[in-house]
Amino acid sequence: MRPSVVEEFVHVYSPGSHEIRSFFAPGRVNLIGEHIDYNGGLVMPAALTQGITATCRPRSDRLVRLRSREDTLSIEIDLDRPITPDPARGWGNYPAGVVSELLLRGINLNGADVLFTTTLPQGAGLSSSAAMEVLTAFSLLTLAGAPTSDLKAIALLGQKVENQFIGVNCGIMDQFAVALGKKDCALLLNCESQEYHYVPVALDSHVLVIMDTAWQRRLTDSKYNERRAQCDAVLRLLGEDAPRDGLVHASWDQVLFHVSDPTLRRRARHVISEQTRVEQASQVLASGNLAAFGRLLTASHTSLREDYEVTGPHLDTIVDAALHATGCLGARMTGAGFGGCAIALVEQEAVPDFTASVRSAYLRETRLEPAFYETHAADGAHETTEEE
Ligand code: GLA
Repeated sequence: MRPSVVEEFVHVYSPGSHEIRSFFAPGRVNLIGEHIDYNGGLVMPAALTQGITATCRPRSDRLVRLRSREDTLSIEIDLDRPITPDPARGWGNYPAGVVSELLLRGINLNGADVLFTTTLPQGAGLSSSAAMEVLTAFSLLTLAGAPTSDLKAIALLGQKVENQFIGVNCGIMDQFAVALGKKDCALLLNCESQEYHYVPVALDSHVLVIMDTAWQRRLTDSKYNERRAQCDAVLRLLGEDAPRDGLVHASWDQVLFHVSDPTLRRRARHVISEQTRVEQASQVLASGNLAAFGRLLTASHTSLREDYEVTGPHLDTIVDAALHATGCLGARMTGAGFGGCAIALVEQEAVPDFTASVRSAYLRETRLEPAFYETHAADGAHETTEEE
């Protein structure tokens, strides 16, 4: 039998007298509202049952040591020395950035040994980086005896680290979902005002299937930043007509009037139309119209493929295969795109046939073995007593 995380922790770090505590932060899936969080839009992510656990024990000195069960990297951070990004630190840059930010804010951190374990596929677009950021902040704040009840502040801290320490200009959606997710609910988040409420995800006899293309997101960071820059360029061209609360609030007529570049026009069309789809999705979900919800998912994918151009052949192939399979009401890529995962809304009873048919079509086209996960909306970051 596989040893428990605590047993593994003791094996890695040796026995000690301080109490060992575990914390969990989930990954996230975005139901709809893609690439509009940084345009002041409405998004509808949900936290997953899959996520990262940090098993931690305070140390009596000023060292934070980090290991992962899934990786051989061993990272040491001295709380008394400057902390800067370091490519050799790999995934350790996420927790290092968080430690640095907490120190800058005057939090009196303790040294600690930390062992991460994960059930989230890496690089699959399910926000393992946001989970790592939120988890590190939540765990180290707790160990320092500092409050963790302001989960929104923890989410914003994670985003700041991602923007400034990691250098990816992401929006707020992922960290929000990871910190504030709620069982059986999606989060309807207004990214401009940062107000949110929970929308029950009642899928009746249907489930959401996550389809991992096994094609790691590549070039994501540079393409991601490029898309953001294109949205900013549209805003500049709109001049006086530019809405103050984000590109999602521009009208298509204004875009046609001010923007002549066809690429920029398409980017803007995605942003404006996606906002409308999110509004419609929250209505049809509330009224239980799953067929309409499925159609909106598919329309979102088409817009991301044609207008925003962030899908790529792997995501397009798997979504296409899903739409041709039995019992599927709709499918789309989720997250930043260019690879990673897509989601499909599938009739529960049809799931075995569905996955078999998508697998064979996708394998034939790409020669890659996809993975499938049935998922349920779950709680955000929290301390845990048992292994999750
Ligand atoms: C990534 C970013 C998010 C969001 C999505 C696209 O996941 O981290 O902020 O922009 O891409 O919707």
